[in-house]
Amino acid sequence: VLEIDGAGKKTAVSPNLYGIFYEDINFAADGGLYAELIQNRSFEYKFATESWDTLKGGESRKPRIKIRTENPLNPQNPKYAQIERTSPGMGVVNAGFGGIAVKEGKKYPGSIWLRSPGGEISSVAAALDSGSGETLSSASIKGIGTEWKKFEFTLSPTKDSSKAKLIISPDQNGILDMDMVSLFPPETYKNRENGFRTDLAVLLEELNPGFMRFPGGCVVEGRVIEEAYRWKDTIGPVEERKEAPNFWGYQQTYGIGFHEYFQFCEDIGADAVPIVNCHMSFADRDIPYINLKDLPDLKEWIQDAIDVLEYANGPAASKWGALRAKNGHPAPFNVKYLGIGNEQFNQSYFDRYEAFAKEIKKVYPEVKLILSSGPLPSGIIFDSAWMKAREFQKEGLVDLIDEHYYCPPEWFLANTKRYDSYDRSKTKVFLGEYAAHADGRRNNMFAAIAEAAFMTGLERNGDVVEMASYAPLFAKEGNVQWAPDMIWFDNEKAWTTPSYWVQKMFADRKSEKTLASVLTVDSSNRKPAAIGGSVGLGTWATRTEYADIMVKDADGKVLYDGRKAKIRDWKPLTGSWSAKKNAIVQDSSGTDCRILLDAPGWDGYTFSMKARKTDGAE
Ligand code: AHR
Repeated sequence: VLEIDGAGKKTAVSPNLYGIFYEDINFAADGGLYAELIQNRSFEYKFATESWDTLKGGESRKPRIKIRTENPLNPQNPKYAQIERTSPGMGVVNAGFGGIAVKEGKKYPGSIWLRSPGGEISSVAAALDSGSGETLSSASIKGIGTEWKKFEFTLSPTKDSSKAKLIISPDQNGILDMDMVSLFPPETYKNRENGFRTDLAVLLEELNPGFMRFPGGCVVEGRVIEEAYRWKDTIGPVEERKEAPNFWGYQQTYGIGFHEYFQFCEDIGADAVPIVNCHMSFADRDIPYINLKDLPDLKEWIQDAIDVLEYANGPAASKWGALRAKNGHPAPFNVKYLGIGNEQFNQSYFDRYEAFAKEIKKVYPEVKLILSSGPLPSGIIFDSAWMKAREFQKEGLVDLIDEHYYCPPEWFLANTKRYDSYDRSKTKVFLGEYAAHADGRRNNMFAAIAEAAFMTGLERNGDVVEMASYAPLFAKEGNVQWAPDMIWFDNEKAWTTPSYWVQKMFADRKSEKTLASVLTVDSSNRKPAAIGGSVGLGTWATRTEYADIMVKDADGKVLYDGRKAKIRDWKPLTGSWSAKKNAIVQDSSGTDCRILLDAPGWDGYTFSMKARKTDGAE
């Protein structure tokens, strides 16, 4: 029986509780949401000719291709390709991201920057090859001079192909310099220039998200500080964006940069939640303390964080607001949130956070600042973030704390009440990343149902959990660094997971308010259905050494014998650990734990459990 207290207290639910977390992981940006079809268009990859090949000409000779840096397009874009043609038919070939998928009769807009330093080459052909030697479309580019110039062309294939290639071949012998070779699909989301792949963008729009967190994740941190995400490198004309290695082991062209993120948030009606680097890379996570005086350029990084808010919210007459206007958006984007750092949780981070927050709040007191915390389970470390949040809250320096958890489905089922007793006076929660990780880390229905169960707890506590987002969002088949993910795709299509539909179901039907309710289950005619017990965790000194877990049927036959089940990888406080097959040992409050058994057919079984601590107490 479900009793709903309609006249009782109503709790308001955060209007943007359900949102999305976008990170360039699993080729989510280049080769994914970013619609560019040419891979390594600017020859800035670590292996500068990656995705490029040469085409033999007459006498079966290949052209010479060199990567050069003298007199580049601009200092942000230092490398370009130099080709030497010595016989007709020679060319260079780009295979896109594992082939270019094209459709018959559609118009593919292309562009390329060219010069012939010695003036020998005045025209080239740009052609689409089917992937097996058949020319599907060709365009002639004329008027090449000795200085860099951008040329545009259109290709319209005579056939479909999923493995097409772009071929650039000079018409004359000589030296040709080439950079920013680009080809886009016939349409992009909302037909924006330099736009997003429509099918993927529409899947995000249809999630009806209240907010979008970007650009990551670990991507914000970078592996080392030189590779940290700096938003100023990601705006303006694409040929002036400074590419960098991505944390996940491939290149990021920043074709999707901060302007595109802000624009997309506006397009889909989601609050933008940008995250900035706090002058701390992933490698710096291991340095527990640093004197901020040893970071002489810290001020510059803090200024970057202030400037991003001016770029988003400042008047078109301000320095950064003017650049936003120049980039096509005179009106402010009205950004309300800013995250500082990702998954960092030591003193070294807290000191940086404080320095950033103090300066940002002076200029933008109304913008809500997000403090990061460690991922779960991380026990004491995670708690230290909460303690810090308390301190920062008193000084008005924090508005939300960013929790992350990737745990087994059982953890989600056992934690649906996680925020029920949450102290309402504490910092609000941004559950910035979560996903149920089932066996083998595969997307499956059980994981999605566990997430749904957990989300009922988020909604019930929608007054303290202000925002929550599943992670990661995208994975390109064959290019996966992390699973499970919410949406999968290849070059031609996308497919969703049960977790996608759970997110959509909640976001489409989000409550404005919740009412108190009581569920009573009549179990009078059933044998015990849920069996459990508790066991003291003890402190570090008297840790629980093992738990005895046994399930017998009504005749006393042992169905599950988990005596002296070793508790693997015992850690203090929050988290979950497998004690033995089918048994999960998990703390609930920091001093007790619950043991949940996943034994088939509970009814009629008796259950016994005993735990012994290291000091011998039982
Ligand atoms: O979502 C994948 C990664 O998980 C994120 O980049 C990071 O924040 C977390 O560890």
